[in-house]
Amino acid sequence: SLTHTTGGSEPTLSTEVDDPSHPLYHHRRIVSDFDYGDILGEGSYSTVLIGKDKRTGKQYAVKRLDKAHIVKNNKVKYVMIERDALSRMNHPGIVKLYWTYKDNRSLYFVLDLARSGELYTYVRRLAPFDLDTTKFYAAEILLAIEHIHERGVIHRDIKPENILLDDNMHIKVTDFGSAKIIDENNQQEGEDTAGTRSFVGTAEYVSPELLRSDPVSKEADMWAFGCVIYQMLSCKSPFKAPTDYLIFQKIKNLEYVMPDEFPPAAKDIIQKLLTSDPEQRFGSQALGGIQAIKDHPFFDGVDWENIFNSTAPPLK
Ligand code: ADE
Repeated sequence: SLTHTTGGSEPTLSTEVDDPSHPLYHHRRIVSDFDYGDILGEGSYSTVLIGKDKRTGKQYAVKRLDKAHIVKNNKVKYVMIERDALSRMNHPGIVKLYWTYKDNRSLYFVLDLARSGELYTYVRRLAPFDLDTTKFYAAEILLAIEHIHERGVIHRDIKPENILLDDNMHIKVTDFGSAKIIDENNQQEGEDTAGTRSFVGTAEYVSPELLRSDPVSKEADMWAFGCVIYQMLSCKSPFKAPTDYLIFQKIKNLEYVMPDEFPPAAKDIIQKLLTSDPEQRFGSQALGGIQAIKDHPFFDGVDWENIFNSTAPPLK
């Protein structure tokens, strides 16, 4: 550190920086800077724990990744991409990466804590959501996706499990472990450039172009977004089937049922998002990008500038 505090009598320069925009806010952290508590979630390569900053008392979600396990399963590249993608993000609708550090066993990512858990849980318990609630969550998700794309990233695993909710029931998109970094200067060697393509994402939300082995672009996230809107209005995803193979068949054949009871504007936006050809899909550059989606009648009345500062509609 640059300076140290001497004991407290006079106001000295402190290494504590509370302003996130200040360059020193991101000074180095180590494992022992945090007290670790409850487990929030477990994945194949990681565990997410509550971590409390010993100095400030602020709580975070600390993702702990097992180094040996990652190396053994050739996932190092994905961990690096997750970190690089997350570190580009600065948006209220996306979990923020504050610090990373490591010890002999593990890598640690310190992230925003989203205390209310996964949107998935609420969809399962409470869907169909009413139109205002669906519109609200869809709008927040769209703004998060817009930011992700503006920062040169494709998420590639947009789904209700990866949309977390904070104390105020606003969204925080998480899990950039399937992301692709698409900007010119920092092109990562991925499965697409290396030749052998591997499946990333989750079967139910996978775009048809990925199943055709066509290049995957930002529009893949718009497809998944369409699936999520459908799911909030109906409680199930549009291409549900007992096996991944059958799900893929349905997606390839664009085989889904549009429920009669969906409002007309919802039917229209879903149908425009669930378009097989990514160039003809709503959100593509040719069709006016994300702005055209914001302008769709489904989103009538949304205050795009202030939605993250607004009161979330009740989920009952
Ligand atoms: N589970 C996984 N990531 C999380 C986060 N950032 N906040 C709360 N629970 C989580």
